[in-house]
Amino acid sequence: MRRFVFVAALVLASTMLVYTGLNTIGLMPVEASAQSVSIDNLFNLEVIAISFLFSLIVVPLVYSLIVFRRRPGETGDGAYFDGNARLEIVWTVVPLITVLAFAYLGAQSLGETRRVDPQAMQISVTGIQWAWSFNYPDYGIQSNELYLPVNQQVLLNMTSKDVIHSFWVPEFRVKQDLVPGRTTEYRITPTLLGDYKVRCAELCGTSHAYMLAPIHVVSEADFQAWVQKEQAAAAAAASGSPDPTRGQQLYENIGCKACHSLDGSAGVGPSWKGLFGSEVELNDGTKVTADQAYIVESIKNPGAKIVNGFQAGAMPQFSLTDAQINDIVAFIKTVK
Ligand code: CUA
Repeated sequence: MRRFVFVAALVLASTMLVYTGLNTIGLMPVEASAQSVSIDNLFNLEVIAISFLFSLIVVPLVYSLIVFRRRPGETGDGAYFDGNARLEIVWTVVPLITVLAFAYLGAQSLGETRRVDPQAMQISVTGIQWAWSFNYPDYGIQSNELYLPVNQQVLLNMTSKDVIHSFWVPEFRVKQDLVPGRTTEYRITPTLLGDYKVRCAELCGTSHAYMLAPIHVVSEADFQAWVQKEQAAAAAAASGSPDPTRGQQLYENIGCKACHSLDGSAGVGPSWKGLFGSEVELNDGTKVTADQAYIVESIKNPGAKIVNGFQAGAMPQFSLTDAQINDIVAFIKTVK
């Protein structure tokens, strides 16, 4: 009996040590959303259970190895045991109750993270190989960076143009897939000002690892300032002349660069080096000149003309304004 009490005390001490150890190595990034609180509470309970189960197995094992080892001169067999019905009932019923309790807590936490605020601002999110695009229908803004006002719930309506992607911001804890042909919902209430990153969490092709976009959680005043700046920039782009610098930003942000190189090297699509004004051979053997009309058509309707040696259907259809397309053509003209 004294041995049982001693081992039980060792198990408890080891549980506390393992739990403290796991807590101090910082398993989780900062908590930056209202939804992360209930998820972290659940995770904390699981870490306690893990620490206890680890100790419950390892401590008696090590104790037995040391205390009950064979002494010099001992040659007989070990004692014979014939099972223990009471012990077996205990180690069946206790885990059953534990698993059911965690199922209940998990469901409760899921309900908590999905709680709907009818005032939530809606943003459309599109994933393509390999970029993110954010559309604010209330403000008429299209952006490649996600600006969110702090302490306000937002509802992201998400879809994909090609394959399955997954919207994951570790600091927000919640993760949701983007599925072609479907709209999935992601609700989040950012609570901590700062810069984060959304990263794609579903293997989606060669540049999956680079499918990142910045997220800025800002004050309400800063958010309104950003909205005004974006609206002014959109108005200027729509009325002004094509600008290669804006075109280059689009090239880098919306995903062109994943497939079209600037140095002549082959990619998923033709390189943009020396493209403008050059003669291009198509897959039906005809030749065309890569002028304004050809490039605009190739962006608006990627399947219209396929360059010899490249795959039809490789390029998704981007939703760009005419002004944005003109900016991109202006940029292509500069890539010599
Ligand atoms: Cu998109 Cu991985």
